[in-house]
Amino acid sequence: MSFTAEWLAMREPYDTQSRSRALVDRLASVTAFRSALTILDLGSGTGSMMRHLAPHLRPPQHWLLADHDASLLALAEPPGLAVTAETRVVDLVLDLDELPWETVDLVTASALLDLVSAHWLDQLLERCLAANAGLYAALNYDGRIAWAPAHADDEWITGCFNRHQTTDKGFGPALGPACAERAADLYRHATWLVETASSDWRLTPSDTDFQRALIDDITGAAMAIEGAQQSRITEWQTWRLEAVADGRSHLTMGHTDVLALPAELGR
Ligand SMILES: C[S@@+](CC[C@H](N)C(=O)[O-])C[C@H]1O[C@@H](n2cnc3c(N)ncnc32)[C@H](O)[C@@H]1O
Repeated sequence: MSFTAEWLAMREPYDTQSRSRALVDRLASVTAFRSALTILDLGSGTGSMMRHLAPHLRPPQHWLLADHDASLLALAEPPGLAVTAETRVVDLVLDLDELPWETVDLVTASALLDLVSAHWLDQLLERCLAANAGLYAALNYDGRIAWAPAHADDEWITGCFNRHQTTDKGFGPALGPACAERAADLYRHATWLVETASSDWRLTPSDTDFQRALIDDITGAAMAIEGAQQSRITEWQTWRLEAVADGRSHLTMGHTDVLALPAELGR
């Protein structure tokens, strides 16, 4: 699945303000004793996770940014002198073992897990366990969408969107809204210490461009699922876009962050 640099740039400020500060602080405290950290960021895009997390962790840090889109990776720059970064153009489905797992202390992913399958998440767990590398996976869409003012079809449209979230995004049938809970259960079952926290986007009437983009995205997904209901979906889209244009639209989109640490690190 491809994502544009424009879309990633549009969402980055909202992601930055939404990721749970409590989980980042916890990660900073459990890694503070390390003399150096190697962090593998999966599905890095233009490096939003590195820009967000690196200033909170102690230097020196070395980031490995992995994505199959070389044009996105080319835009990733390390945020400071004690932070180095290298990029790996890699297909995370086909070539997961090309990554240097044995050198990795921490695995990160932002807005990635909802795209992956249950099978792929099992493979990730295996590699984290083998490397004894913690996982910090932020901004996993969790199925909750709340609009104000309400429209009679909001719930139905959210249902269509959530069904679309579980279609194949290149990794097999996607976990979609179930991904954070599934990841938390898997790592707990492996006796790791797991914490979750919400990281919802809370958009107000001034967030017009982002709300418009999300309405169009949700509309496209609903069309792909319920193409026979085109006029009903278009009516909802038009009504929602008018609410944004009138400066009265609020949107909360639910995300959950997950931090999973090997037991000896997490205590
Ligand atoms: C929603 S974007 C998130 C990007 C970035 N983590 C962020 O938060 O801005 C998902 C990223 O996963 C990458 N991706 C999707 N499928 C992939 C695959 N099979 N192999 C490698 N990267 C993939 C996309 O290119 C994209 O950069």
